Amino acid sequence: MTNQTATTTDAKCDIGFIGLGVMGANLTLNLADHGYSVACFDLDTEKTQAILEKDQAESGDQPARLIGCDSFADLLSNIAAPHIIMLSVPAGAPVDAVCAQLIEAGLPRDSIVIDTGNSLWTDSVEREARLSKDLVFFSTAVSGGEVGARFGPSLMPAGNADAWARIEPVMNAIAAKVDPTSGLPLESFEPGKPVTEGEPCVTYIGPAGSGHYVKMVHNGIEYADMQLICEAYHAMRSTLAMTPAEIAAVFSEWNKGKLNSYLMEISAEVLAQTDATTDVPLVDMILDRAGQKGTGLWTAVGALELGSPAQTIASAVFARSLSALKDERRVASQQLSGPVAAPVSEEEKAVAISQLEQALYCSKICAYAQGFQLMATASNTHNWNLNFAEIAKIWRAGCIIRAVFLQSITDAFEKDSQLSNLLLDPFFNEQIAEYQSDWRQAIAKATIAGVPCPAMMSALSYYDSYRTDVLPANLLQGQRDYFGAHTYQRVDKPAEEAYHTQWSTPGRPEVKV
Ligand code: 6PG
Repeated sequence: MTNQTATTTDAKCDIGFIGLGVMGANLTLNLADHGYSVACFDLDTEKTQAILEKDQAESGDQPARLIGCDSFADLLSNIAAPHIIMLSVPAGAPVDAVCAQLIEAGLPRDSIVIDTGNSLWTDSVEREARLSKDLVFFSTAVSGGEVGARFGPSLMPAGNADAWARIEPVMNAIAAKVDPTSGLPLESFEPGKPVTEGEPCVTYIGPAGSGHYVKMVHNGIEYADMQLICEAYHAMRSTLAMTPAEIAAVFSEWNKGKLNSYLMEISAEVLAQTDATTDVPLVDMILDRAGQKGTGLWTAVGALELGSPAQTIASAVFARSLSALKDERRVASQQLSGPVAAPVSEEEKAVAISQLEQALYCSKICAYAQGFQLMATASNTHNWNLNFAEIAKIWRAGCIIRAVFLQSITDAFEKDSQLSNLLLDPFFNEQIAEYQSDWRQAIAKATIAGVPCPAMMSALSYYDSYRTDVLPANLLQGQRDYFGAHTYQRVDKPAEEAYHTQWSTPGRPEVKV
């Protein structure tokens, strides 16, 4: 590979980067914007060539900031010791393969290898332990998509604390920034002119695995957030007969208020697009079959494993699964009956839109409450000592779920670091008290019209279940004891005492077990 700089092996790069796909290439250019020289390598030499050309185009008359390498050994010889190497390769086996090849190429033991992919958190734990004799394996989960990677993502680093001390300045530099006073993002989307002031959206999350766990939950919340917006769209489309352009206008309005978020903004933009070939709204030309790479599923599975209720996140994952059954749904749509939405007056439409705004907001609060509750349970289980105010802070900019709302979550955890559920924070408690009637109305109207809103419904059920003192789990315990002698506790006896009733025996004697 041709080096673009005049300097070669005698002027070593600050950092090595492996994996020059969309995320990797943009993170590399982001590093270069912040003054770091980077030696880059990808198994696909065209990708290496492409980033060198992009760098050349962006740096103009200035010396190129990147060096292209054609092997693992070449990469190692072009990085200053002690080596810092970042990876952006697909999660799973490719991460292990790259580590193995680096070791084979003579990677010094004090090298820090940073995995920036969407790895499964347990893999990060296992890798740190297994690779510790050969290198320092460190994880830094990245959120923000391709634009975030290029101009400032939210970063969730975790692992060896000494390694963190070495790489912290790099991560602080490339992360998104927020204005410390307003909590709002400070953004620049101009190559070579990065934001250098403000609070970086990065915080050391904790021991190995914790960063990718937090990123996984971020993605679970992302799934819920996206699905909730889609349900509001669907309700407007199917119960209020609104066009995508009209809904785009409503979303843009909502984006000026408490629902302001990146996902709201891009949803409005998607809905406003017209298809160039057919001249119909582009959204109508997009097949309604959702894809998924797995992080939402991991969150739902993780929540089930820990017994932490996260039904809105799980609903969002299932909504994608159900959407994928496109052929079956097409057949079912011809065979299964349902109500037909009744026409609405302009006045009713305005009321319904406003109710949907509140429904989206309240549901969103519940989705975040579930995500933070899950992280708290995981933190206790694995002794991670997660700092939720800091986590909410680093999600205020750069990441996909960035939203004004994250400042209120930050405030909630700053006031009470031990807050067991976001719903119990006085601000969120009041917000739901104020808007819940609209929330219920919006769901009721969609249900009566036969328009699905699974994530909104699950959020409301979560809220109602969480605030209910006596749930029908007493009957459930009776059922379990009836058929399986699984025992139950009594409300009038100490919790550690177990009781069993001989349900089918005349007189039904109860015994203390
Ligand atoms: C982010 C995104 C990113 C990716 C998702 C997409 O935070 O930058 O979450 O990680 O876009 O993994 O996931 P799905 O393909 O599963 O929707």
